[in-house]
Amino acid sequence: MPPDFSGIPAERLAALIVRAPKAELHVHIEGTLEPELAFEIGRRNGIVLPYDSPESLRQAFAFTDLQSFLDVYYAAAAVLRTEDDFHDLTWAYLQRAHADNVVRAEIFFDPQTHTARGVPFETVVGGMSRAIGRAREELGISAALIMCFLRHLTEREAFETLERAEPFREHLLGVGLDSGERGNPPEKFARVFDRCRRLGLHAVAHAGEEGPPASITAALDALGAERVDHGVRCLEDQSVVARMVRERIPLTVCPLSNVKLRVFDTLAHHTLPKLLAAGLRASVHSDDPAYFGGYVNENLRQSFACLPLMAADAYTLLRNSLESSFQPAAEQARNIERLDELFENWGR
Ligand code: HPA
Ligand code: ZN
Repeated sequence: MPPDFSGIPAERLAALIVRAPKAELHVHIEGTLEPELAFEIGRRNGIVLPYDSPESLRQAFAFTDLQSFLDVYYAAAAVLRTEDDFHDLTWAYLQRAHADNVVRAEIFFDPQTHTARGVPFETVVGGMSRAIGRAREELGISAALIMCFLRHLTEREAFETLERAEPFREHLLGVGLDSGERGNPPEKFARVFDRCRRLGLHAVAHAGEEGPPASITAALDALGAERVDHGVRCLEDQSVVARMVRERIPLTVCPLSNVKLRVFDTLAHHTLPKLLAAGLRASVHSDDPAYFGGYVNENLRQSFACLPLMAADAYTLLRNSLESSFQPAAEQARNIERLDELFENWGR
C-alpha cells in the first residue's frame, strides 16, 4: 500500500524530496569530475589541461549536442592517472551522494577512456573499489560499479576490454553502453553483451537519448538490457511505450542532462510527467553532474520547480529508483520501508 500523501503541503514537498532515501542509477564517475578537482589532479600529475583555469573549463560547458559534451568530458578525464586519482574522484562523488541521501549508487565508468591512455585496468578499478569500501564503512552508503563500453569503438575493442575486466569480475555489478548513439546501434555489441550476461553481469544500455525508439527495442532484444538509460524518446512510438510498461522496464531519466545536451529546449518542455502518466517505470538521476548543473537532488528540485509534478509523483520516482536498483530484495525492501515512513510522517 502506498502511503497517504494527502497531508503533505506543497511547500514542504521540496524538503521531503531532499531528505528521502534514493538510489542513483545513472551517473558516470568521469562526469562527476568537478573542474577544481580536475585541475588539482592535473597539477599533481604534471598534466596541463587545454584550459587556463577551472572557470575557463566551466565556460566550455555550453553544449550543442551529446558529441560536443563528450569532447570536453574525454579531454578532462585525461588528468586521471593513478589509483589515488580514481579513489579521490569516487570518494568525492560518494560524499556528495551521501549529502543528497543517496543510499545506493550504481556507478558507470568508462575503462576504455583510461586504458587507451596507458592506465592499467586494475588502477581504475582498484581506486574506485577502495573508495566504495571506504564509503560503506564511513558513510553507510552502498555502491557498486557498472563497466560501460564506448559504442563509438569497435566490437573487437569491447571484447578486449571484457577480457581485461574478467580477473576483476567480483568488482563489477554489470555492464552498460554509452558514448555517441548516432551511427552506433546496440546490435553492434550483441555478442559482447551475450558473453557478459553469461558471466552473470547485469546489463543496461543508453538508448533513446539521441537515438530513435527502435534503439530502445534493440537494447532490450539484442543486448538483454534490464534498464534503459535515458529512453526518453520512447514516447515517439506507442508500441515501445506499451512494451516497456508491460515488461516494467526501468528508465533512468536525467532531466538536467537532457536540457544541457539539447534533447529538450528547456526543463519546462521535459516529458517526465508524460512518462509517469504513461505508467513507465521512470526515476530521476544526474548523468554527468559536474557538467550539467547538479547532482540528483538538484535534478529533482529543478524538475519539481518547472514541471507539473505532485507528491505522488515524488513518491513514485523515489520508489522507482530504489526498486530499479540491482540491490538484493531484502535491502531494497528496507530502503522502501524508510521511504514510506518518511512520506507517512511528513505531513503530520
Ligand atoms: N550519453 C552517452 N554517453 C555518455 C553520457 C550520455 O549522456 N554521459 C557520459 N557518457
Ligand atoms: Zn549517461
